[in-house]
Amino acid sequence: QLGCHFEFFIQEKPTGLAEAFLITEEFIKNSPTCLILGDNIFYGNGLIDLAKEAMSSPAGATVFGYRVNDPERYGVVEFDKENRAVSIEEKPEFPRSPYAIPGLYFYDTKVIKIAKSLTPSKRGELEITDINKTYLSEGSLRVKVIERGVAWLDAGTFESLLQAGSFIHAVQERQGLMVGSPEEAAWLNKLINNERLKELAEPHKKNAYGRYLLNLVGNKNANN
Ligand code: G1P
Repeated sequence: QLGCHFEFFIQEKPTGLAEAFLITEEFIKNSPTCLILGDNIFYGNGLIDLAKEAMSSPAGATVFGYRVNDPERYGVVEFDKENRAVSIEEKPEFPRSPYAIPGLYFYDTKVIKIAKSLTPSKRGELEITDINKTYLSEGSLRVKVIERGVAWLDAGTFESLLQAGSFIHAVQERQGLMVGSPEEAAWLNKLINNERLKELAEPHKKNAYGRYLLNLVGNKNANN
């Protein structure tokens, strides 16, 4: 419906993010990979460029650093004076820096082999942080700081879900534009045309979301 192909794989038990690479080995085959966590929300300019740059980088891995108030809740990256990453720790009690690693990771084809070599951490999970540490120790981890103009929100706790909802609500209300509408994104990227967008909107036309999608087709920026 959206002009893209999706496949779903189920992780039966919450035994760690790194298990994604074991579960999807057949799907990934020999391709580079991007892993995005479903409870992470990114909003702001420049993100697409960061992603494109990471995808076009040759061997190795790219992760990001984002300044937060509560780094102890996350994977934390420490930089030296030249802004090179020197250490990565998962939920350290005493973080060495305020830079959390968001749930957006780009890996080359070696990631499956690395995931297979991991053993579960103290919390019983195959840790994504251990994959990143392996790349770091091999000298093939790029860590880019996401600047303050971009919002990285986490929706993994009741409190943070509410905060993320308030933030998105404020932005959407102010601009009259929706954040993260899959139908709109597919349409803007010309994966679907006006007719398809209308078809997708039709069942929802009695609510604000359906009306929003139908309005897109009528506005002057309509494509296709
Ligand atoms: C996971 C990762 C952590 C990362 C965070 C981002 O944490 O283990 O390194 O910073 O996602 O949301 P978890 O969701 O397992 O607490």
